[in-house]
Parts: sequence; structure tokens; C-alpha cells
Amino acid sequence: MAESMQGLKRSHRCTEVSEADLGKTVTVMGWIQKRRNLGKLIFVDLRDRSGLLQVVFDEESVGTQDFEKAGRLRSEFVVAVVGTVGKRDGGVNESLKTGSIEIKATQLRILSEADTPPFPIDSDRSVKDELRLKYRYLDLRRPVIQKNLMMRSRVATLIRAFLAEEGFLEIETPVLTKSTPEGARDYLVPSRVHPGSFYALPQSPQLFKQLLMCSGYDRYFQIAKCFRDEDLRADRQPEFTQVDMELSFVDVDDVIDVNERLLARVFREVLGVEVPLPIPRMTYREAMERYGSDKPDIRFGMELRNVSEVVRDCDFVVFRGAVEQGGSVRGINASGQGAMPRKKIDALVEFAKGYGAKGLAYAAIQEDGSVKSSFAKFLKPEEMDGLITALDGRPGDLLLFAAGPDKMVFDVLGALRVELAGQLGLLKKEDYRFLWVTEFPLLEWSEEQNRYTAMHHPFTMPMEEDLQYLDTDPGRVRAKAYDIVLNGTELGGGSVRIFQNDIQEKMFACLGFTKEEAYERFSFLLDAFRYGVPPHAGLAYGLDRLIMLMAGEDSIRDVIAFPKVKDASCLMTEAPGAVDEKQLEELGISIVEQDK
Ligand code: AMO
Ligand code: AMP
Repeated sequence: MAESMQGLKRSHRCTEVSEADLGKTVTVMGWIQKRRNLGKLIFVDLRDRSGLLQVVFDEESVGTQDFEKAGRLRSEFVVAVVGTVGKRDGGVNESLKTGSIEIKATQLRILSEADTPPFPIDSDRSVKDELRLKYRYLDLRRPVIQKNLMMRSRVATLIRAFLAEEGFLEIETPVLTKSTPEGARDYLVPSRVHPGSFYALPQSPQLFKQLLMCSGYDRYFQIAKCFRDEDLRADRQPEFTQVDMELSFVDVDDVIDVNERLLARVFREVLGVEVPLPIPRMTYREAMERYGSDKPDIRFGMELRNVSEVVRDCDFVVFRGAVEQGGSVRGINASGQGAMPRKKIDALVEFAKGYGAKGLAYAAIQEDGSVKSSFAKFLKPEEMDGLITALDGRPGDLLLFAAGPDKMVFDVLGALRVELAGQLGLLKKEDYRFLWVTEFPLLEWSEEQNRYTAMHHPFTMPMEEDLQYLDTDPGRVRAKAYDIVLNGTELGGGSVRIFQNDIQEKMFACLGFTKEEAYERFSFLLDAFRYGVPPHAGLAYGLDRLIMLMAGEDSIRDVIAFPKVKDASCLMTEAPGAVDEKQLEELGISIVEQDK
């Protein structure tokens, strides 16, 4: 039976009680974590979001009636306890903030009883994900998740304060809107008033923030929900949160400067970590050449080396053929791994195949300088020596090579170096290595659509020195676009925007839009530009990813209160779900049954 808390007022959160309060009467409220009944004494760990506090009941202090109540306490009952703060009798528990004290109860009220939870609240990782997410409200009680969400709140507060100090205005943009061009599939919302018409949920506030610049707000930010109907991964959710910003009268360096100071502030205040400024910058080209990735993890080396020239004329057809066909042969040096057992190497080959490789060639340099290799028999000794030199190979090293089209080779070796670093324990989570990747290609050829698509989005400004190629060789144009990368994760990205209609029209032409098509979709933006537009640029972070890395989690699910699972459903609410026939009728929608 539930009791009222009338007449009681919580005086402290559990861990706000300290030795400074010895002898004082306090009122604490929370959940029962654990109860130990020793007959004459009953011990309870009381939990709230701040942590744990020990409460002890003896019949003399608390009275017969409340002592009986204490005997009925079970895990997750919600209680109010009035009591006196004392030193712990049974010695100090070093692992608790309140480990040296306890509350001797003088009053107990059971505010709510609880069924036995489907999993214990204090267990960390052993619970199956499906169960955790079905009972997310219980999962959210677990201290790890509470810590993550509290960190998230703190970071959001700091970002708001910092950006306000820097003269940014927080302005909300609509959620029911028109399709925005970030390249993923839109979530659509049917209109009742305009049957057959749909709103799109924003993939980002991109167009609106550019309009705000046209309207003179000059520095905007928003912590904005974004929606993208794309395949989920550990760092992707269908709805996620951006810290979104846009600035007028600025160029690349200005955006980078304010964001470096923002990141440094957040890491210093939340984690006590100093981010050395300036954050290093690397062009996209260099990132690909050295790391095989546009979001390189620079916590470790194992850089790629291009060995195409060494093997251009060799008798190993896999290598020679790749170079002949315009691709390349590149390698990495897993230093000290020369004795890796064959089975483990085979597993790496399989891993590489997962990234599109046909195979992975290896050369293990033995301690005596001889080489064990899958392809040595095809190479002249001086060619093998050339490979070893190119990769700084020493006795005891394992050299791994991929051959084929550049893109595949980069993908394979880029992923392989991270995989190996993981296996070798080189990825320390608390080692935060930021990197700006700049000068992205403006366009990307899409085989699927047989046309260029925008690598960032269609409003990204080409680099001045490459403008000349926009008509003749668009694939070669680099953009004033930048990503902020942390430990191999793309934290955020942005660009300087096109603000001249002639360049914008050329850009649309590159993307295969006619002028009419472009106007049909973006007339409001293009029109706005006709009425006076400042040069502007911006950036957006994935807040979920930022918190994931700060909290040392592997999935953004653990930093989002109510996340979705791989098929974009919510296991707790069972969204998405069917709706009433009547609702559909109002929307003029009828469902066509599909064969599964
Ligand atoms: P972009 O598309 O690069 O840029 O997105 C910015 C950042 O948002 C995060 N992000 C995601 N996080 C979780 N789940 C997702 N599905 C997801 N998709 C993206 C990433 C990414 O770096 N309007 C531009 C920004 C700009 O140009 O100012 C934009 O949206 O961390
Ligand atoms: P094969 O001639 O197919 O037996 O391959 C000989 C060796 O080359 C094996 O170790 C393969 O894994 C490797 N290999 C095959 N294709 C490639 C490739 N595209 N890049 C690198 N190594 C490859």
C-alpha cells in the first residue's frame, strides 16, 4: 500500500549527505537498491540519480510499526526515510561516495511498492539489449546510463552558455517542413488539410539556417532534432540531435576557431581534458593517402604506403593488374606482428573481404630476415626488398597489402588498420585526438544514379582555385567543406556556402538539375539570395556521437534516453504502429497490403 509523502520534504539527494552532516536529521527519498535483514537490524542501500546511501533500521529508533515496514522492503520500492546521519559501524566502503556514513532511520514511508524488475538494476552489461530496451524506463535507472544522460545535459548547457557568450542566437526552425537535401531518405508526414501532400521531417535545419543568415541574424545555433530514414548503425539513429550553427561574414578559419574553443571548453569542464589548440588539419586527399579514410583515427600510426611503383612490372598478376587498370597497391605495417599465427592472418583476410577486397596479401618478416609470404614466389628479391623498404619493415613485422581500385584499397586498409589497432590494444578511449579534415571533393560520382551527387550538400562552396573546373571537370573540384573528426568518428561537418546565384546554378547543373527543377525545390532559398545575402558558413555536430565518445560508450543508444533499434522501431512503445481506419480516412490514405 502506498503512503503519502505529505509533511515530508526531501532535504538531500543520497550522495549530498556527507560527514559534514554528522548528527543532523535528514530526509532522503529514492529506490531500494538492496536490503539485508540481520534480524534486529535491517540495512538498505537507497538509490537516486546521485548514487547510493546506506540506511539502517533498528526497532528502537524507528518504532515497531516502521520496523515491520522495513522488513517488507524489496528492490525498487520507492521510500522516504527520515533519520540521523552517523558514522558507519561496519567500516568504510571506499567504493561509495557516502561510504563512511549511514542514516539511522527514525521514520519510514513506503511511497510505492514495486514488482520484481525483469533484470536487476545494478547489473551492467550482462542484460540482453532487447530486454533493456523493452523496459527502457528501468534500464534508465542504471547508474551508467544516468551518468551518460547527466553528462549530456551538462554538455548541452555548456554549449548553450558558450555560444551565447560568443554572440550566437538560439532560434528554432520547423519540424514540419519540406524535404532538405542532406542525401538520406526523408520521413514524411501526411497532411490532413491537403490530402495527398506531405511534410518532410528535417534531415537538418540547413536551409532555414541559411535563410536566417539572409535575414541578418548573423550567428545562429540550435540543438535540433534531425530525422533521416537510413540504415542504422552503432553511431546512427533515425532521429538524432545536432548542435547546429551558422555564421555570417566568415570563412573557414572563423568557423574552425570558434568551434575549437567550444570543444576545448566542453572537454575541459566536463572531462578535465585539455584539448591542445589549434586542432591539426589535414586535407581529404592526405587523409585518404595516409589513413585510407576521411575520418582517420590518429591515435596510432600504421599509415598506408602506396607501393604501386615498386610492383608495377612484377609477375604477381594481382598487383600488376591492379596498377595496369588504374588502381593501386598499398600496404600497412603491423609492426611486431610477424609471428601472427596463420589462423589470425586468415581472419584478417576475411575481414578485408568484408570491405570489398578480393584478398589480402601478406609478408611476415622473420627474425632472421627471411620472409614468409603469400606472394613472394611471384616477386624478384629486389621487388620484395622494395616493398619492405617502402613500409619500413623490420624483422618481426607483418606487412599487409591490398590491390585494386583506389576506393576499395582505401576502404580495406583504412578499416584494417583500425581493426588491428583494436586487436593490439592501441585504442585508448581516454586518448582524445581531434582532427579537422578539409578540402573535401565537392562532388561524388554515383554509379547508382549515374550522375554526380553533392558530397556534403548542394549549397557547399567550391574552392576558389577550383571554380574553373566546375564546367569542364567537376569531379576534380574541391569544396570549402570540413569535418571535425575524433578518434575515427565523424563528430561534425560543415562548409562555407554558395551565396552567388550563378555558382549555385552551375552547382545544380553539375548535379543534373535543370534550372526549373532547382527552382521547384529550393525557390525560397534562391529567391532569398536575390534580396541581399551575406557570405556565410556553418557546421553541425552530432551531439549523440559527441556524448558517446565523451562517455566512452560504443553506441549512441547508450546516450539517448529512448533510442530505436536496428529496424528503426522502439521496443518500448512499439512504434511505429498501425493507426485507426478513421485517421487514415481523414488523411485520404489507404494501405496497400504488400507481400512480405
Ligand atoms: P551532416 O549531414 O554531416 O551535415 O551531419 C552533421 C553531423 O550529424 C551527425 N549525424 C548523425 N548522428 C546520428 N545519427 C545519424 N543518422 C546522423 N547523421 C548525421 C554526424 C554528422 O557529422 N547541414 C549539415 C551541416 C552543415 O553543413 O552545417 C549537416 O547536416 O555527427
Ligand atoms: P591467389 O593467387 O588468388 O591465390 O592469391 C595469392 C595471394 O594474394 C593470397 O594471399 C590472396 O589473399 C592475395 N590477394 C588476392 N587478391 C588480392 C588483392 N586484390 N589485393 C591483395 N591481395 C590479394
